[in-house]
Amino acid sequence: MDLTGIDGLMRPKSVAVVGASATPGKIGYTVLKNLLESKYEGKIFPINPTATEILGMKCYASVLDVPEDIDAAVVTVPAKLVPQMAEECGKKGVKGLITISSGFSEVGANDLEEALLANAKRYGMRVLGPNIVGILSNSDKLNASFAPFLPMNGKAALISQSGALLIAIDASSFTRGVGFDKLISIGNMSDVDFADLIYWLADDPNTTCISLYIEGLKDGRRFIDAARHSKKPIIALKSGVSTHGAAAAASHTGSLAGAAKVYGAAFQQAGVIQATDLDDLFDRTLVLSLQPTMKGENMLIITNGGGVGVLATDAAEKYGIPLKFAPADVQSEMKKHMPEFGSAKNPVDLTGMAGNEWYGESVRYAFPHKWVDGLVVLYCETAITNPVEIAKSIEQAVRDSGVKEKPITVSFVGGERSEEAMRWLIDHGIPAYGAPDLAVSAMAALREYARMREGLSVVDESCEPVDPKRAIEVIAQARADGRGSLTEIEAKEVFKAYGLPVARTELATTEDEAVEQGKKIGFPLVMKIVSPDILHKSDAGGVKVNIKDEAGVRETYRTILANAKNYKASANIHGVAIQEMAPWGTEVIMGSVNDITFGPTMMFGLGGIFVEVLKDVTFRVAPVASNQALHMLSEIRGAPILAGVRGEKARDKAALAETICRYSSMILDLQDDIAESDANPVMVYEEGKGVKVVDARIILKKK
Ligand code: ACO
Repeated sequence: MDLTGIDGLMRPKSVAVVGASATPGKIGYTVLKNLLESKYEGKIFPINPTATEILGMKCYASVLDVPEDIDAAVVTVPAKLVPQMAEECGKKGVKGLITISSGFSEVGANDLEEALLANAKRYGMRVLGPNIVGILSNSDKLNASFAPFLPMNGKAALISQSGALLIAIDASSFTRGVGFDKLISIGNMSDVDFADLIYWLADDPNTTCISLYIEGLKDGRRFIDAARHSKKPIIALKSGVSTHGAAAAASHTGSLAGAAKVYGAAFQQAGVIQATDLDDLFDRTLVLSLQPTMKGENMLIITNGGGVGVLATDAAEKYGIPLKFAPADVQSEMKKHMPEFGSAKNPVDLTGMAGNEWYGESVRYAFPHKWVDGLVVLYCETAITNPVEIAKSIEQAVRDSGVKEKPITVSFVGGERSEEAMRWLIDHGIPAYGAPDLAVSAMAALREYARMREGLSVVDESCEPVDPKRAIEVIAQARADGRGSLTEIEAKEVFKAYGLPVARTELATTEDEAVEQGKKIGFPLVMKIVSPDILHKSDAGGVKVNIKDEAGVRETYRTILANAKNYKASANIHGVAIQEMAPWGTEVIMGSVNDITFGPTMMFGLGGIFVEVLKDVTFRVAPVASNQALHMLSEIRGAPILAGVRGEKARDKAALAETICRYSSMILDLQDDIAESDANPVMVYEEGKGVKVVDARIILKKK
């Protein structure tokens, strides 16, 4: 990964403003003024064809006239002039363009954007934008943007696809008390994208956490790689999740795979925490930028109020860290810092009488205690206590402990004095929130991130195909026949080539052949119409089950053909599939789509009514290793059914996970051919007895 050009953009030693203007209110004026006001320590070169001096600075007619090197050029001339500016900057040896100008692909002017990019590429120059607000960095004292001022100083970096939102976050960083070192507007992402910046920020000493506002990624897989590479927490707010994808689906899976589900799966695989809304993005950015992860499951809550304690207990359950009673030594120590009527269990209730001394002493003991993996301290404002004093004693106790590898979050519920106390805590590195559930949810984010990283560190075991050449032959034959989908028998051939356990199925083209195949497979049988023109076989009366003997085979053969002709007289009929009748098991569904952002993506869920009505399914971007597939099995709401309910034995999860793994490697290998696919139903048997794919469907990609 070559980040040289990105360095020039993100940490320039000199900046030119191409389109600097002496007219207040123009963006070219504001950017220059911002660079000066942010006290940028590098060199600044205003560029304007007619002005000789702007804001007291010498002006140059062109970057080519500047006698010194320029690292980054902020471009604020109208779009039609930008490609020419890029050419001049390239000649000058500028490393990167911060292209503020709008009027490119976002309004359909793709040619203009391509011309900008081509000119930049010719000189190895990187392009941020176009259509951006710019870059702001506290550590570099750099406001190369038209946002009003640098954000509240902190350790997070925000990359935003919306310029307006970035300006809003800039201003509200102060009112919300969430500090950022950098705000980066990414705009049209003609060149520099989220992945480039994540790679760069992963090594930036001034960034501890990366926050993203995403409207749409261009290359989902590069994003996943970059995020997995980053050892810093990433939190993403994804907007526009409601309409994409599902409209033209030809398979069951396709109709269930909306952007929200696929992005959610990709974030999980990438170790990215997903924010639910803007408030959540701020709240989690605060905690992830200031605190280490929570490495175990034991969370201790200390409070001065029963009400907030109960709210926090509820939140703990909701966010997946249910509380356990503190061990005896913790309880007996806590009792020393509370009246008789306090409670030392968990939450530890110091009661409304708790002042800074009791808070300080209980935190001093509990925070370093080996049982405690994360500490949440709650406070309700009272007339007999001073919030700022309490904040200070909590911080002092944490600092004195010398413990750096475990987290603390705090909630102060009250008025202005509590607000002041929280600002003080945040300034001293302790994330503080105005509600107890937020302090718990913040702790849960630290636990979630730790869990995700633990999951990513497990070595993935891949599944080898059995006969991939056979799959390619089957698909080639269907394409040669001019077909857009495979028949069930062909789809099963492809599945078999990847080691998927399919129910034995043979094609019969005459009644006699049907009898012969039936005898080989063994009764009872299932018989199904095989026609590329009839995708929904049951609707056509083309599926019959439980055929017990030769007479049944003959009669069913005739009935199925007659039904098919009635359903669609013009249908091209290949024959009738004679299939082993798989014993009944737990029905599940697997399937795939070729997502526009992430490529081959796998779905798994319980079948039948669960998928039809409850849409109880989960997704992963392929490939899915067996160990990852086991996570999928535990994610669905119906997971207990696989574990065995009401005295039933557990289902064969290992075989199921292996099947998902094999399926995912099939859709990855054959991504140029498979658009969508389903294995539905797949029967899952008792532990050790495996699974069986009963029906299969593959829709081919248009070529
Ligand atoms: N080299 C250097 N400067 C030049 C050149 C040149 N070759 N040619 C012209 N200029 C100067 C102009 O003379 C002018 O300076 P002046 O005031 O001294 O005359 C300056 O460049 C700017 O050019 P204008 O034609 O005055 O353009 P204006 O400032 O009105 O608009 C802008 C330019 C800001 C780039 C506009 O076209 C634009 O794209 N605005 C939208 C930007 C935006 O919102 N981006 C973020 C999107 S995200 C969000 O929504 C918040």
